[in-house]
Amino acid sequence: MAQSQNTSLIFNVCKNMLKRKNPDQAMENAKSGGLEKTLGVWDLIILGVGAIIGSGIFAIVGTAAAGENGAGPALIVSMVVAAIACIFSALCYTEFATMIPVAGGAYMYTFATLGEFMAWLIGWILMLEYAIGFIAVACAWTNHFMQLLKGFSNVLPAWIVNPPVWLVNDYRSAVKIDPNCVFPHIFNLPISINLPAIFMIILTTAILVKGSKDSAKMAGIMVAVKLGVIALFVIAGSFFVRPENWSPFAPNGFEGIFMGAFIIFFAYIGFDALATTAEECKNPQKDLPIGIIGSLAITTVVYVLVALVLTGMHPTSGVIIPEGLLKAPMAYCMSMTGQSWANFASFFISLGSLAGLTSVLLVLHMASTRVLYAMARDNFLPRIFLKLHKKFNTPHILTIAVGLLGILGTLFLDLDVAASLCNLGTFTSFIIVCVAILILRKIDPDRERPFKVPFCPWFPLLGIICCGGLMIFSMVIAKGDDAILSTELFIVWVIIGALIYSAYGYRKNRKAEIEQNIKE
Ligand code: ALA
Repeated sequence: MAQSQNTSLIFNVCKNMLKRKNPDQAMENAKSGGLEKTLGVWDLIILGVGAIIGSGIFAIVGTAAAGENGAGPALIVSMVVAAIACIFSALCYTEFATMIPVAGGAYMYTFATLGEFMAWLIGWILMLEYAIGFIAVACAWTNHFMQLLKGFSNVLPAWIVNPPVWLVNDYRSAVKIDPNCVFPHIFNLPISINLPAIFMIILTTAILVKGSKDSAKMAGIMVAVKLGVIALFVIAGSFFVRPENWSPFAPNGFEGIFMGAFIIFFAYIGFDALATTAEECKNPQKDLPIGIIGSLAITTVVYVLVALVLTGMHPTSGVIIPEGLLKAPMAYCMSMTGQSWANFASFFISLGSLAGLTSVLLVLHMASTRVLYAMARDNFLPRIFLKLHKKFNTPHILTIAVGLLGILGTLFLDLDVAASLCNLGTFTSFIIVCVAILILRKIDPDRERPFKVPFCPWFPLLGIICCGGLMIFSMVIAKGDDAILSTELFIVWVIIGALIYSAYGYRKNRKAEIEQNIKE
């Protein structure tokens, strides 16, 4: 008797965990939710390019080309490999976003296909991509800002150009940079505060509380600045390309090319954030495919051009690689041309990098809040987070909460670990979205699909293989403390997510079901 009761309890729990959300109901909820529909096709392209072009092309590209086991001039092949891995997932995101245009992105699509538990888990993992990625970019912003200040060392006081490391770093990085650093203490705890990153997080929080139309306007200015700066680099730099630098083309063979693709994958992250704004689009069915595919296509062309010029301007193998080439490669290559205007151009490139990072920060912050908003609507988070600002109609409590968590993160997380965690989270969400497309085509074949992934099931399958392959490749060949720590943190994150679901989300949803039944 007791055994059969246990079996039926387990059966019920599993049934509840696999409960799928009807997409029509999600769209109905969204209608009554009330996020304002303000985004048109240009806003989407700007937000997309704003989200994608950032620290990847301004900083990480140096490591992908010239780091240990880097791709060398074959970086352009790595760029294309990473873009191909993204394009299959981008097509799947587009099919979903036009079919179920509600806030939440991959979280929502998972709820409609793999059920309640996986939806919660993917929402939780998406926080790695958006919220932890947001922390990584905020840390990178500080590095570029400090680099820019160094150019003014003749004019600015030394305490601004070279502040104590504990004022511009998280604790881990500060110890790495200066093992003898004397930290201030609070209750015996050493304190390290990344002040510029915190300032930027406060700024993006304020802009986002004011509204997504304003964020799109701000992102528009940043996008214009960073594209202008990249154009400056490509045009001016092309006069200093020496074709002999392109040989040997792939100094580390296929391993270098794939390692380069894995590293530079970070540079493409962000197009999927557009799907989370679907509820705020004026015409999601028509505009979202152009926004998602268009911004990915624009950035791929931009990246390949940068890779060609960069690897042509400076050797990427066979010499001692200078730190500048790894940290701020475009500005460094420009400053090495020896021209009278080179320092000026280098300054503009640093400024463009900051603009680039700021727009990525805005979009990642916005995407985190939109996913959490959708999760709160589904009882996974307290309903207070659903409150919209009276005047601006934005989820201000969530926006501020994500900002506060970001500030907390900058105190503890270091840039490399945060970026690796972000990559792991993104690969997982891309794979799940490709799987979800295949499932929804099977279980709901007649649903209207304004955009369809061509060559289904092959394209989603290729997306799974490309993203899964790069993820496994990175885990197998990545070595060092940071790589191991990020893999461990990823596993701990998933376990904590499962525990929170069982302690809160599962119960809340059952309670909501009972209340609904009573009403009916
Ligand atoms: N793609 C974004 C960047 O490169 C995350 O900063």
